[in-house]
Amino acid sequence: MGTASDKKLFDDNGLRLDGRSPGDLRPIRIETDVLNRADGSAFIEWGGNKIQVAVYGPREAYPRHMQDINQAFVRARYNMAAFSVDERKRPGPDRRSMEISKVISEALQAAVMVELFPRAQIDVFIEVLQADAGTRIAGLTAAAVALAAAGVPMRDLVVGCTAGKVDGKVVLDLSKEEDNFGQADLPVAIMPKSGKVVLMQMDGDLSIDEFNEATSMIFKATERINQIQRDALKKNYSSNAQDWGE
Ligand code: CDP
Repeated sequence: MGTASDKKLFDDNGLRLDGRSPGDLRPIRIETDVLNRADGSAFIEWGGNKIQVAVYGPREAYPRHMQDINQAFVRARYNMAAFSVDERKRPGPDRRSMEISKVISEALQAAVMVELFPRAQIDVFIEVLQADAGTRIAGLTAAAVALAAAGVPMRDLVVGCTAGKVDGKVVLDLSKEEDNFGQADLPVAIMPKSGKVVLMQMDGDLSIDEFNEATSMIFKATERINQIQRDALKKNYSSNAQDWGE
């Protein structure tokens, strides 16, 4: 997060550097069943983000001391490819990827009917091939689709979006420059049917009014993103037993 004077992020007409209005999303496309050997998979393009998700399981949890006799656990692993960012990312886990893996695992754990699979684990591999800000939310949004494509019983999908503050203005779905030079970044994910929040983090500062404006922008955007998730699932799973709404 920088300061407002670091870089001009709006043009004279109040549009953002990529031509969007403050409340506009970047283009989003989701596809399912892109990997043959996974139980479920999805690919998401969200602005310049390109992220691949593979789901394996439910299967017996290993090592066995990790087994919970009451429920399965969801283990998400978020990983950024070395070539996914401008400056080569050193391969392997780091503090940031471990934190993101943890918050995504917790968000998905809330949505999956884990009580149906005691002693099991469900692995979710999130591979960021190209990063352009908002990768945790894009990865989580695609992971929910991959879990559904794997036939894992879920209470609901999980859908997210970010908002933030740029040049003193609240905007939806931050671009890379806005993330770098803006004053706040607020990723949020919900279960769309109940509206229950399953992920919320904040980098930077927002006033209470700005926070309320940002969250209401996010909640409105999640309706459209959830529709994209459902359309992706319907394309390959029109007769799927689980009803994702409508
Ligand atoms: O991706 P997300 O917004 O969820 O997480 P972030 O930590 O706020 O990172 C914002 C962006 O910074 C990422 O999407 C990448 O485009 C970029 N980044 C990078 O260039 N190099 C890294 N090692 C980590 C992030």
